[in-house]
Amino acid sequence: MATEIHIRNLHAGYGAVTVLNGVSIDVNDTETVALLGTNGNGKSTLMKSIMGLVRATQGEIRATIDGQALNLREMSTEQIVEAGIALVPEGRHLFPKMTVAKNLMLGAYKKAARAELERSLAQAYEVFPILKERREQLAGSMSGGEQQMLALARALMSRPKILLIDEPSVGLAPILVHHVINQIKTLKEMAGLTVLMAEQNFTQAMRVADRGYLIVHGEMAVQGTTEELYGSDLVKKYYMGL
Ligand SMILES: Nc1ncnc2c1ncn2[C@@H]1O[C@H](COP(=O)(O)OP(=O)(O)O)[C@@H](O)[C@H]1O
Ligand SMILES: [Mg+2]
Repeated sequence: MATEIHIRNLHAGYGAVTVLNGVSIDVNDTETVALLGTNGNGKSTLMKSIMGLVRATQGEIRATIDGQALNLREMSTEQIVEAGIALVPEGRHLFPKMTVAKNLMLGAYKKAARAELERSLAQAYEVFPILKERREQLAGSMSGGEQQMLALARALMSRPKILLIDEPSVGLAPILVHHVINQIKTLKEMAGLTVLMAEQNFTQAMRVADRGYLIVHGEMAVQGTTEELYGSDLVKKYYMGL
């Protein structure tokens, strides 16, 4: 059954400051969609709006999960997570003084996920063997790449159908960026996820995305397939300095 997100004319911001100015995007069943844009253009605000962490002031945020239609603007963050949407936040937000295993277990806090904890843990360790090796290590003592893997694995512990990933490559060495992006693709295929990924790294994101949207100053500037985006003058301007 279909699992998708449809956002129409979304306005959101912080207090009197409007950050998103009428954004519309679609993430269709099993797609990986890239949300592109340089720093400060509203990518994280969009992700937080979907999760109900930032409240939209206007527009529609709707999702369908396993065929069930949801109006996310009317739901709390907890209900949104419970319904099957998870966010891997920018900056990871791990519990640095807790072990890897404990961080993972805390990801399974929603009701349906707790029953599947053992299976989810086994799956996480299968995709990220390094996390199994390091399961008793404190999260804060791991490298940036390992912490990003842990953040991804933790989000999957809630057994989401839709995964929002905010800037997975931030702060990682180029070789690790490549690796983490590949792992996102593996995870997505293994868990049958629908994915929206915010990323400043255009070429890495478009290696695994089906389509992308370029957000500039809180508005959708360009959208298209990888090929279309590579041909876009705005993409060239923002990413390639042309
Ligand atoms: N908590 C906040 N309070 C006020 N302004 C914020 C807050 N978070 C982000 N902003 C502002 O919103 C704009 C968009 O930020 P953000 O959504 O984080 O962009 P991106 O993720 O694309 O870098 C920026 O101008 C930023 O300064
Ligand atoms: Mg951001």
